[in-house]
Amino acid sequence: MDPPSQQFSVAFLPAAIRPGTIEGCDVVVTDVLRASTTIIAALANGATAVVPTPDIPAGIELKQRLGHNTLLGGERKGVIIPGYDHGNSPREFTSEVVRGKTLVLCTTNGTVAMESARGANRILIGAFVNLNAVAEQLRTSDRATVICSGTDRMVTSEDILFAGALAAALGHTTGSPTLDDAARIARVWWETISTQINSGTTTLEHQFRISHGGRNLVKLGYDEDIRFCATSDLLPVVPRLDEPTWSIRLD
Ligand code: MLT
Repeated sequence: MDPPSQQFSVAFLPAAIRPGTIEGCDVVVTDVLRASTTIIAALANGATAVVPTPDIPAGIELKQRLGHNTLLGGERKGVIIPGYDHGNSPREFTSEVVRGKTLVLCTTNGTVAMESARGANRILIGAFVNLNAVAEQLRTSDRATVICSGTDRMVTSEDILFAGALAAALGHTTGSPTLDDAARIARVWWETISTQINSGTTTLEHQFRISHGGRNLVKLGYDEDIRFCATSDLLPVVPRLDEPTWSIRLD
């Protein structure tokens, strides 16, 4: 593979995005555990659209406004919001549940990260479950940025691993001058962990379990969700957030 000329940058948290810096950029928002994986699963299973919001009452209003074919999902501290129909588990949104429906999704971190992507050229939703499909969509981009959602405003390593794995899938090497400093850290981290995965001394799932975001989910008993989120290329679709309508669909 020829080395890419694409500029590749990473924000470890949404707060690292400064106004005016992502205009013209193709952005990938990731919240591997679990919002972005959940959105990918819902759309892959036939949801018409996902409407993201960080605000609990706004989610309820959106559901009322959008009508009876709408589901309301969301979490606070990882647990279903009282009065909501569903939580934020990617395994909840099977095709029996979501096909032909709009999902309004209210989460703590991932939906906030989406807000920080306003003004980008394209806003894609990425996670390990659609890693190589996202890479294919970005191959011709001049400038790509990954926005990591973090957990409770703190960096979480599964998002950084995704950013590094995406850089690798696009052909950026650890020494590539096309990476900004955060992207280089992510790429080097992925190099370390992927080498250990290939030699059988760790697994992606284990890395998720020991991360900041993963430890919360383990405590809540969401082990199956962690396994699901760690399954690379399980759902090869690429959701795109349309800024004017603030809804996420498959192209
Ligand atoms: C979020 O967007 O805050 C997360 O996806 C939290 C969770 O795992 O439910």
